[in-house]
Amino acid sequence: MTTSEQHPNLIQVLDFVDSHRQAFVDDLFQLLRIPSVSADSAFADDMCRAADWLVSHFREMGLAVELIETAGHPIVYAESPPVEGAPVALVYGHYDVQPPDPSDKWITPPFEPTVRDGNVYARGACDDKGQMLTHVKSLQSWLKSSGKLPLQVKLVIEGEEEVGSEHLGSFLADNTEKLACDCVVISDTSQFAPGVPAITYGLRGIAYFELHLTGPNRDLHSGVFGGGVTNPANALCKMLAALVDEEGKIRLPGFYDDVTSLTDREREEWQALPFDQQEFENQLDVDGVTGEAGFTTLERRWARPSLDINGMTSGYQGEGAKTVLPTRASAKFSFRLVPDQDPAKVTAALRAFLEPLVPPGITMELVEYHGAAGIAFPLESPYLEAAANAIETGFEARPVFMREGGSIPIVNQFHQRLGAEVLLLGWGQNDDNLHSPNEKFSLIDFHRGVRASAALWHELASLAQGQ
Ligand code: BES
Ligand code: ZN
Repeated sequence: MTTSEQHPNLIQVLDFVDSHRQAFVDDLFQLLRIPSVSADSAFADDMCRAADWLVSHFREMGLAVELIETAGHPIVYAESPPVEGAPVALVYGHYDVQPPDPSDKWITPPFEPTVRDGNVYARGACDDKGQMLTHVKSLQSWLKSSGKLPLQVKLVIEGEEEVGSEHLGSFLADNTEKLACDCVVISDTSQFAPGVPAITYGLRGIAYFELHLTGPNRDLHSGVFGGGVTNPANALCKMLAALVDEEGKIRLPGFYDDVTSLTDREREEWQALPFDQQEFENQLDVDGVTGEAGFTTLERRWARPSLDINGMTSGYQGEGAKTVLPTRASAKFSFRLVPDQDPAKVTAALRAFLEPLVPPGITMELVEYHGAAGIAFPLESPYLEAAANAIETGFEARPVFMREGGSIPIVNQFHQRLGAEVLLLGWGQNDDNLHSPNEKFSLIDFHRGVRASAALWHELASLAQGQ
């Protein structure tokens, strides 16, 4: 038991959390039943339903709430009253989810939350409805059991994280005073492993593109025309393959200029983490991995840039063989970036690299989607210490410090515009199938997350009051 757990208010709150465990799960299921897919306009009404669900939830908790319309999906904003002498925390999360595709690979339907082996299976279970709700439920527990919060909390729950947070940046820029805070709390990452909770101090950034190549004015017979006309699918393969060399290095000129090296301390600390390469491969059913030469798997995933093709479309995709020379070929692909790499510079370098590679008979269109810079925070801070204590209360284990390969586009801007520390406290697991079929979230970790969050408000409040 940590000292904070002995505080009378917190004891009451944690009791409330324990005795409302099932009620909180029921609420999570309500939200999971709403198919709030931000990428697909067919789900626009459901996006509004999810935002409205949050609005009424926050209102019932007695918070001041606003539904902020944007040119995209709405932002839900809520706040509690200021507390003299205590810091201000801002909780950020997202109510949008990734498309459920491929839908036929789900064991149970993506928007009918189902419990198996102590996990809830549903799109958004972990990313991010389940994780985000741990903070909502801990705040509700504080409000119900002690009548007030020990510090002021502001909540920003957006609906566009999975599509690059396009409209949140301007909301942030226009409302820096309203959103002013000492720290931002985000649960949208993972633990290191089961039983090994983590605080994440670095995220990769992203630069996402779609490349369209157009060749002849119609699909052609590949026997009649093949070899005599440039095939856009062949050209696409060549151009994409040119982006990475044999050593796994990205070949854009200047790409590595701003890549910050890992520190010796990081390398040592990551070697000491309980990571087993064989087990990692077994979990994915692969008989080996490739990547940038000279780096370990954790280093490659957390601290080195990478390039992945996210989707390719061309030619005949139906059953059996069809001898066609397609008129068009396209690919979606994205670079993961590390701190100090600028997505705009990468975009310019990519365009300059690809243009001379376009063969005769092909026209190229390069579409830019979202871009966001990566970030790494210093490890010395009282807020991190407070968060580590809170995690110990919730998870009964001290967290490790790690970086993650995923991106949360707005984190950089929170840090820069609000000057706030960002606490990335992830309750998920690496095998939670984020963005894949059968996404899941452990219900025990949901409960532990609510407990850790409840303790966090106490820990943060104690900080400023010098207790
Ligand atoms: N929750 C994830 C990011 C994440 C997952 C970070 C696991 C660390 C560990 C987030 O919702 C996400 O998927 N973000 C997108 C952002 C992109 C669409 C701009 C990503 O990383 O692909
Ligand atoms: Zn997420």
